[in-house]
Formats: sequence, structure tokens, C-alpha cells
Amino acid sequence: MKVAIDGPAAAGKSTVAKKVANQLSYVYIDTGAMYRALTLQALREGIDPNDEQGLSHLAKRVTISFKYQEHGQDVFLNDENVSQAVRQTDVTNHVSDVAKHKSVRDHMVAMQRELAEVANVVMDGRDIGTYVLPQADVKVFLIASVEERAERRHTENLQKGIESDLEELKRDIERRDQIDSEREMAPLIQADDAIEIDTTSLSIDDVTNQILSLIQQAQ
Ligand code: DC
Repeated sequence: MKVAIDGPAAAGKSTVAKKVANQLSYVYIDTGAMYRALTLQALREGIDPNDEQGLSHLAKRVTISFKYQEHGQDVFLNDENVSQAVRQTDVTNHVSDVAKHKSVRDHMVAMQRELAEVANVVMDGRDIGTYVLPQADVKVFLIASVEERAERRHTENLQKGIESDLEELKRDIERRDQIDSEREMAPLIQADDAIEIDTTSLSIDDVTNQILSLIQQAQ
């Protein structure tokens, strides 16, 4: 069973994808974390997010992998656990530019398809239903208003003790959505056969249960 969960930034994809995967003992693959790990290393090495050739070489030089631990999934850059580091604002603000290049995406998509071969998977991202796994058994497209998405991120930041500015978050989310939707290669777009779920007034459990029942129907 292959489950694709796509949608714009901060729509709650990873939260529900993780829950669905846990519930069914499927493997969860966070494709955004892969682009984020590459972005982190590019920033460390001073590679410009517009330098496609530099990024493409970098993608071939580093190893990005996942480890499944007691507390959940961790993403590794070579031997370093970068699960926290990839969430830094600096990475978030540059990842869409890094992810727009064809050669970078070709490399990541090949890895993602390989990861998906092995087991039942729930994969979340922007182009899973349209491009990475077009034959997925269940395709979900999660949406929510920008205001709602920014509010959720804001609350999350404050709970974690991270400084947060609601208006700035709104602008950053809109900017990321625009770059992700307007890029030439596999842009953020709803697959024709994806089920859209507007999560604006739904709880995490509501959304999780809706996806679980779609999976049950597809079995
Ligand atoms: O889901 P996320 O916020 O962690 O994703 C970070 C960025 O990575 C997102 O703004 C665009 C890019 N991305 C992508 O282009 N394709 C994917 N399948 C997943 C993420």
C-alpha cells in the first residue's frame, strides 16, 4: 500500500502522515526533510540556493537517510542526526529555492522511489501523488487557509519557546507556496485523483481518521 499526502506548507501533512503510519505500522517518509537536509549543508558550505550545478554536485556528495527510533523518525546527513537542525528558520526560508532545480529533484525523487519500493509507506511532500508515486493507492491533498496555517505554526513555536511573529510566518508560508507552485519541475499541484481535505476546522484526529478510512476503502 502506497499513501501519498501532499499539500502546501504547514498544512499539517507530517503530523497526520506520522499518525497514519504509526497506526498501520507503515513506513513514514518525510520528503521535505530530505530537501531540508540538503539545504542545511548548502548553507553550511556557502552554496547559493540558485547555484543548480553546485547543489547538484552537493546532492551526490552527501548521504541523506532516515533512521527509525523509539521516539519516531530521524533524518541523517551523512552520520549526523539533523532532525532538529533542518527545522531552523534559515533552512525553512531557503529550502524552496533549493528544491526548485531539476537536477536536485531528479536525485531526490530517485531516492524517494527507492525508499518506497520496500514496504507499505506513507510519503508526504508536494509532488508525491503527481510525480514521485503516480500509482499510489491513496492520494490525499491537505489544504488549510494561510491564516490557519500561520496560526498553528505560531502556537507551535510559542509552545517550544521559539520567538515567533505571526505576520512574518504568514508571509514566509505564502512565499514558499508561491515558489513551490510556480516552479517548472513537478510543482505543487493537486493530482486529478487526489482527495482534497480542508483541515481548517478539523482536528488532527479527524484528519487522521479520514485518511485511515480512505486507506481501508482502498484495500
Ligand atoms: O514539507 P516541508 O515544509 O518540510 O518541505 C520543505 C520544502 O521542501 C518545501 O517548501 C518545498 C520542498 N519540497 C518539495 O519541493 N517537494 C517535496 N516532495 C517535499 C518538499
